[in-house]
Amino acid sequence: MKKRVAILISGGGSNMVALVNSMTGDHPARPVLVLSNNPQAGGIEKARDLGVETSAIDHRPFGRDREAFEAALHARLMEAKPDILALAGFMRVLTPWFIERWQGRMLNIHPSLLPRYKGLDTHARAIAAGDREAGCSVHEVTADLDGGPVLGQARVPILPDDTPESLAERVLVQEHRLYPMVLERFARGNRTRVDLP
Ligand code: GRF
Repeated sequence: MKKRVAILISGGGSNMVALVNSMTGDHPARPVLVLSNNPQAGGIEKARDLGVETSAIDHRPFGRDREAFEAALHARLMEAKPDILALAGFMRVLTPWFIERWQGRMLNIHPSLLPRYKGLDTHARAIAAGDREAGCSVHEVTADLDGGPVLGQARVPILPDDTPESLAERVLVQEHRLYPMVLERFARGNRTRVDLP
C-alpha cells in the first residue's frame, strides 16, 4: 500500500508540483490532497491540472484564533487520511496543538542551510552576512520553528552580484531536487540525512 501524502501550500506551489510529479511508478507514496490556506493560491489550479484533489481553508476569517483555523485544517485532513504531511511553501506558523497531532509524520522545506537563518528573508540575510553559500533544508516539523531534525540539505554558491531574488531562484531549483528525494526516503521509513552536492 502506498503512503498517502497531503501537501500544504500557500502560494505558487512549485515544490508541490515537484513532489506530485515525483510520485510515479513504484514510488512508495501518492498525493491524496493539496490543501491551501489561501483560496487564491496559484498552486491550487496546478494541482487540479495534475489530477490531485484540492481544498482551501482561508485562514483570515479565523482572525487570531489559530487553533480554530488548525482544527478546520485537521478536520479536512482527516477526510483524506494522509500518512504524511508535506508543507511546501506553506506560510502559516503552526501551533503546538496541530504539531502534536502530526509530529513525526510532517515535513517542511525551508530556504536556508539550517540551523542558520530560521524564519523569513533567509536569502537577504545570507547575502548581508557575506556568506559564500546558501541552500535549502528539508526537516521534520516540531514545535521548535524551523528547528526539527534536518533530513536533507542542498547547497548553492552565493555569487558576488546576487540579489535575494537571483539567489532564491538558484535555491528553488535545488528545492525541487531535494524535497522529492527526501520524501521518497521518508516514505520508505529512511530518516538518514542526505546532503546533495
Ligand atoms: C520556497 O522558497 C520555499 O522554500 C518556501 O516558499 C517558497 C515558495 O515555494 N517555503 P513554492 O513555490 O510555493 O513551493
